[in-house]
Amino acid sequence: MTGLSVNNLLGIKDLQVEDIQSIFETADNFKEVINRPIKKVPSLREITVANLFFENSTRTKLSFELAEKRLSADVINFASSSSSVSKGESLIDTVNNILAMKVDMVVMRHPKPGAPHFLAQHVEASIINAGDGTHEHPTQALLDAYSMRERVGDVQGKKVVIIGDILHSRVALSNIFCLQKLGAEVMVCGPATLIPKWIESLGVAVSTDLREALNWCDVANVLRIQLERQELPYFPSLREYTMQYGLSRALLEGLGKEIVIMHPGPINRGVEITSDLADSPHSIILEQVQNGVAVRMAVLYLLAGKIERNPA
Ligand code: CP
Repeated sequence: MTGLSVNNLLGIKDLQVEDIQSIFETADNFKEVINRPIKKVPSLREITVANLFFENSTRTKLSFELAEKRLSADVINFASSSSSVSKGESLIDTVNNILAMKVDMVVMRHPKPGAPHFLAQHVEASIINAGDGTHEHPTQALLDAYSMRERVGDVQGKKVVIIGDILHSRVALSNIFCLQKLGAEVMVCGPATLIPKWIESLGVAVSTDLREALNWCDVANVLRIQLERQELPYFPSLREYTMQYGLSRALLEGLGKEIVIMHPGPINRGVEITSDLADSPHSIILEQVQNGVAVRMAVLYLLAGKIERNPA
């Protein structure tokens, strides 16, 4: 296991392949720890982590908090909806006030792309991006690739299709970077209006035909339609979207081949995926959530190893 080449986790784009491998090896060890009767290790006993969520989250927020507690870190939580942000306080003032309380690491979700990068330029703490607008969601991509590797073996050479609202998805971009670094082939599939024109410049294949995409792939990562980020109607109706791009168990089993189904959550059951498929043995959705804790423990542990600690 080697240290990371970065002091912050802002995006997968900044990581070396060796960083990803080191995170996976460390996560393997922590996965063993969290399956023990005593699920805690003292690794981050001297570290204080602030979880700053300027946007809603269920999985990422709880997963980071659990990962920090499993590592014995001191944890403080901040949600912008119940904070002085509503009184006009800026991001940098908010964070500097939190850091004045001797915080070592910041996990931040923010609706604006680039917010964690801005923060990393202005504060001393180690910053982990927990999702910045439509830009990146690095720990989601890491836990996705880790879960894929667990189910299908080496990611190298595997064919992965990301289906749905690519335009508004930070999960898609981080997954593309991560999978390509690990040697997978990536395709995106969805309505042409939800696929950015520049995506082909990243070296991904593009299809608007769901059956073609499913026939091509080994793994399908299904995304929800991010209606909260859409200012325009990108397709006629959700019903029509489901008819063209919704995945069901019958559709999958009619292909005559095995495909692993992934979804970062939250799921809109009956829109992009039916319940019978989401809850089927084809799906590794809950394994993704379970692995999220071990992968985030690995990221926190490896980044904490880079923090210079002052002698008491
Ligand atoms: N996958 C994911 O980021 O889910 P949350 O928005 O619930 O954190």
